[in-house]
Amino acid sequence: MEISVTVNGREYRRDIEPRLLLVHFLRDTLGLTGTHWGCDTSNCGTCVVWLDEVPVKSCTVLAVMADGHRVRTVEGLADSDGLDAVQQGFIQCHGLQCGFCTPGMMMTARWLIDHNPDPSEEDIREAISGQICRCTGYENIVRSVRWAAEHEAARAEVSSETSETSESEVPA
Ligand code: FES
Ligand code: FES
Repeated sequence: MEISVTVNGREYRRDIEPRLLLVHFLRDTLGLTGTHWGCDTSNCGTCVVWLDEVPVKSCTVLAVMADGHRVRTVEGLADSDGLDAVQQGFIQCHGLQCGFCTPGMMMTARWLIDHNPDPSEEDIREAISGQICRCTGYENIVRSVRWAAEHEAARAEVSSETSETSESEVPA
């Protein structure tokens, strides 16, 4: 059957088998291999993507269920301004070792910070509790997410100060 899915802002129309899982649609049909597939039991969470702004394990979703919907994958994190703060955080705080769990962790982290700009260590650990890092790098993953949240908060403060300053410089 034909489906139409908007992935990272781009619309894709493809004829697929109704039984195809979203993770395989992304990886094998669209070639977006940033989303990983790590288990057959819906446990590892390395396949996490956003479906209409909500993180889902893409191995538990049929591709046909995404028909007419929006999907965001790790390839959609960076934009024309550069890497997302979450990606920068993983670099700064060594949040990855082998990197296999990283795409899913980053998609969950991005969602968390969007909904809770100042997450505690506990909040972060709870958010990623459905995801497994086989390298057991949780300590640095938590630090990376905290770095991203703090970095974004600091950046937002600077930009609001800058806009206040430029507003006050505008002659009445
Ligand atoms: S691939 Fe393991 S939970 Fe989806
Ligand atoms: S960095 Fe290797 S699985 Fe998490």
